[in-house]
Amino acid sequence: MNDSTKTITEAQVARLDAADPLAGRRELFALPEGVIYLDGNSLGALPKSVMGRMTRAIEQEWGVGLIRSWNDADWYPAPQRVGGRIATLIGAHADEVIVADSTSVNLFKVLVAALRMRPGRKRIVGERGNFPTDVYVASGVAELMNAELVTVEPDDVMAAIDENTAIVSLTHTNYKTGRLYDMAAITRRAHAVGALVVWDLCHTAGAMPCDLNGCDADFAVGCGYKYFNGGPGAPAFVFVARRHQAQVRQPLTGWHGHARPFEFTHDYAPGTGIDRMLVGTASQLGLIALEQALQAFDGVDMQQLRRKSEQMTDLFIRLVEQELAPYGFGLASPRDAAQRGSQVSLTHAEGYAIMQALIARGVIGDFRAPEILRFGFAVLYVSFRDVWNAVAIIKDVMATGAWKAPEFSERKAVT
Ligand SMILES: Cc1ncc(COP(=O)(O)O)c(C=O)c1O
Repeated sequence: MNDSTKTITEAQVARLDAADPLAGRRELFALPEGVIYLDGNSLGALPKSVMGRMTRAIEQEWGVGLIRSWNDADWYPAPQRVGGRIATLIGAHADEVIVADSTSVNLFKVLVAALRMRPGRKRIVGERGNFPTDVYVASGVAELMNAELVTVEPDDVMAAIDENTAIVSLTHTNYKTGRLYDMAAITRRAHAVGALVVWDLCHTAGAMPCDLNGCDADFAVGCGYKYFNGGPGAPAFVFVARRHQAQVRQPLTGWHGHARPFEFTHDYAPGTGIDRMLVGTASQLGLIALEQALQAFDGVDMQQLRRKSEQMTDLFIRLVEQELAPYGFGLASPRDAAQRGSQVSLTHAEGYAIMQALIARGVIGDFRAPEILRFGFAVLYVSFRDVWNAVAIIKDVMATGAWKAPEFSERKAVT
């Protein structure tokens, strides 16, 4: 497979699976028959063990334990405990990560907190093609704090960071293209001019190794429902570097972020360390599902996971080039695996209908307007054979014109 000019054969693909040290992890997931699931970058698959764990949580901890379970079933320390588990997967210390709220809400908290740490500065630098919530929340924060949001193209980010910059707010892996930023270089540049950096890790966490402390990161947020497989709307996480924790003042001063919530005092006093990032009562069932799901990462070498991801996205791109050349697809992701996350995005003017036709055939990816077909490779449960079969199905859908059926052009609410 090293010679990129040679035709790829099914036998070679079988050898890749046979040599895959992570192949056994697929057994941990409940994937339906006949489905090739290439959308784990949107909603991760269901780990089998979550079902039993949730039944126990509902029947015993909620049903029998009732409110006693906040103490007896260790519900209360779950945000810290699950945060500590996530910390090991993103290069942070256990006391730097806590699970709470959604990514959007955490972004709001850290952007306001970071702006408050740079009182003389008013500028947030972001990327024009960032995920909408990042742009919307940053512009909402700018309005609230009398600051400004400046968004530039990815290649212009470095040059846009200067002495007027308070915060650089970026998504490490772009949601549409899968393009990666150099976390260390951007953070270094921001610090050199006295700015802080907020990293959105939604498409990074669980998809590749990440070294927040190695990069000297300030703040990060990310979600629990993509590569962490925590379930739809799973709680998100927030990272605050130890060195900032004592000064951080986040704006949503709810009682769970208080130093002594159960003293019910009148005045707000922020909790110590990362605890002050909490707001209100945690979504316990969401936390329990996420904690259980994270066990799929136990013993996984993240470097090995990244190698598989690079091999797999490379294989997909090469098969697309080999098999789909006549059908008008473009490549929206970087060709160089080192520059790309665990997804491959193709462009096609008829992308929406093609994706609907693929989903009807069991190849589940998603569509991002105006013309991106997005394929995510969550390598704990996707095999190389899946990639081979998916490309064969795409070829068939194109060659037969199956995508032209009128039902595939009807827009659904969630694409
Ligand atoms: C980069 C990025 N940030 C944030 C979000 C979502 O945030 P939330 O979980 O608050 O809906 C997504 C969702 O796809 C995303 O891709």
